[in-house]
Amino acid sequence: MVPQTLKAHHLDYLNSQTTHSVSIVEVSAACACSEEMTKNVLKEIAEDKMPIHFDDQTVTLLNPILSKVSIVNQLKTERIGHHITLLQSVDSTNDYIKEHLSSLNHGSLVLAHEQTVGKGRLGRQWSSPAGKTLSMSLLLKPSNQKLRYSILTQMAAAALVRSLAANSDAQIKWPNDVLVNKKKISGILTEAEYSGSQLEGIIIGIGVNTNLDKEDIPEPLKEKASSLKIEADTVDPNKIVSRFLEFFETYYESWLSDQDTKPFLDVCRKHSALIGHRYWIEDTVSRRKASIDSLDDDGALVVTYLDTSETTPLISTHYSIRGDDGYI
Ligand code: BTN
Repeated sequence: MVPQTLKAHHLDYLNSQTTHSVSIVEVSAACACSEEMTKNVLKEIAEDKMPIHFDDQTVTLLNPILSKVSIVNQLKTERIGHHITLLQSVDSTNDYIKEHLSSLNHGSLVLAHEQTVGKGRLGRQWSSPAGKTLSMSLLLKPSNQKLRYSILTQMAAAALVRSLAANSDAQIKWPNDVLVNKKKISGILTEAEYSGSQLEGIIIGIGVNTNLDKEDIPEPLKEKASSLKIEADTVDPNKIVSRFLEFFETYYESWLSDQDTKPFLDVCRKHSALIGHRYWIEDTVSRRKASIDSLDDDGALVVTYLDTSETTPLISTHYSIRGDDGYI
């Protein structure tokens, strides 16, 4: 096994040269190690299933990957994202934060090139293949114990949509999906950790299908899931992370001071994939068609059921919204 720091150093160098073929001689010189060592490092990087091609002479990183240096260089936040942990592989970045909760400060960010047991909402799985997806979890430790943290999913969705704007026109499928061309490219999982009745932390987990290729999407999911690379173009995950943190921090700090949800909920309204259409509202016991009217100031989706004409906000996020033919 080569040291993790040497791997990270090689990955950072390759990232600075993404999609260009670089000679092994050049890489070894840039990383201050022997050609033989560089070849061993590249072998391990390939065994980690990272997106590289290499032979005896040259190596190519096929798409930009997560890099701490790159994020730090672009970061303009005051408090959020100043402590970053980048893992090669982890079961779930949300669970990693839970396991290290006492040693991590407010604003800590945990990223992983790969998740082996990524989790979605309602106990679903979330797939995060190495080097082609973005898995990040942000820890918040608010001093206000009564913070209405359920709204943070909408805040994160708004920040994410804005951070993707340079690459694509993303939409939000309430409560936690982000779509491009009506296909899911991202999901958000917000979790709160308590010790007894004490709120210890809130974890905002975000998965983005950044650079997956068509063949990486399992056949049964091809109708509903995609990636930014497939729908728009290859993306640099570090730009998405740094922009996301900046937008999120602005929304979060302003909301803490005045409780006004309008700045971020207006973004959710503008980018809603649902408002103005009719969909099925499903939970574990029922499936009813409704027209989707609006998003209220608490972030609840307001719907009118077609069978009873009753208009109501969906308070719980335990609903799934579905189109006639499936996802949307
Ligand atoms: C969903 O679509 O239901 C939510 C998916 C959330 C996935 C992200 S990836 C980073 C973080 N770690 C996890 O295990 N899940 C979230």
